[in-house]
Amino acid sequence: MAQRVVAIINQKGGVGKTTTSTNLTHALAKSGKKVTVIDLDPQGHLAVSFGVVDPRLSGIDEVLLGEKVIAENLVQVRENLQLIVAGNRLKDIEQLSEGGATRGDLLRKVLHENLEDQDFVFIDCPPSSGLLVANALFAADEILIPMAGDFLALQGLSHMMGTVKKFEATLKKKYKLFIVMSRFATTRNMSKNVLNKVLQYFPQQVLSTVIREAALLAECPSYGKTILDYRPGSRSARDFRSLSQDFLEERVM
Ligand SMILES: Nc1ncnc2c1ncn2[C@@H]1O[C@H](COP(=O)(O)OP(=O)(O)O)[C@@H](O)[C@H]1O
Ligand SMILES: [Mg+2]
Repeated sequence: MAQRVVAIINQKGGVGKTTTSTNLTHALAKSGKKVTVIDLDPQGHLAVSFGVVDPRLSGIDEVLLGEKVIAENLVQVRENLQLIVAGNRLKDIEQLSEGGATRGDLLRKVLHENLEDQDFVFIDCPPSSGLLVANALFAADEILIPMAGDFLALQGLSHMMGTVKKFEATLKKKYKLFIVMSRFATTRNMSKNVLNKVLQYFPQQVLSTVIREAALLAECPSYGKTILDYRPGSRSARDFRSLSQDFLEERVM
């Protein structure tokens, strides 16, 4: 098992889960940590963000279906950083309804027996609360919630926390939980208001660095590059390097 297993979750789409998964893991890898990142979203955007586009690659789908072992499906995407793609059949797993709890435990079992040499395993989750997210929550001991700076995001967050609490009760464990402001519009008052509310409800859980809204971050995936490849000197690259240090030192606001 890796040292730390972190699920990046939020049932809302477009909040920055995949952007955070891509750039935070690359920043950690660059600072010398050994990182594996799993694309648990059938859309496969994480792989695309790293420039991996081969549709024939088998991924975490076949591992969860018991047809392949993890070692066969690791793709070395950067130094110290390996990826497991989603695979074409991941969406079928999301739709499996039978087997309940046992199906929810598939990823945990696989991770428990593998990747011993890794400092981190990150899991980029789909925007849902189905079986795939259940698998991520069974497997993880830490949760990172990317949070956009709009008002509706706040409601999403309290719903998310409800889900997390349910899992804690069922699984009899307590997650280490962090929130990252992942699309922060510095010039908009709303962003600051939302941040203040989040701090009020979840003190000691918001990572110190906010990721600012920036066009560069939206451009990167179309080149298959992380922000650290694409514009290492940019403000956005600094945001993610700083966030990776927050994460290592558990630095919160
Ligand atoms: N801080 C940011 N600044 C600008 N664009 C962003 C930022 N974070 C995410 N995006 C863009 O917003 C869209 C949704 O982000 P994404 O990370 O895919 O969200 P999710 O994985 O939660 O659905 C993408 O086009 C992405 O490039
Ligand atoms: Mg995503």
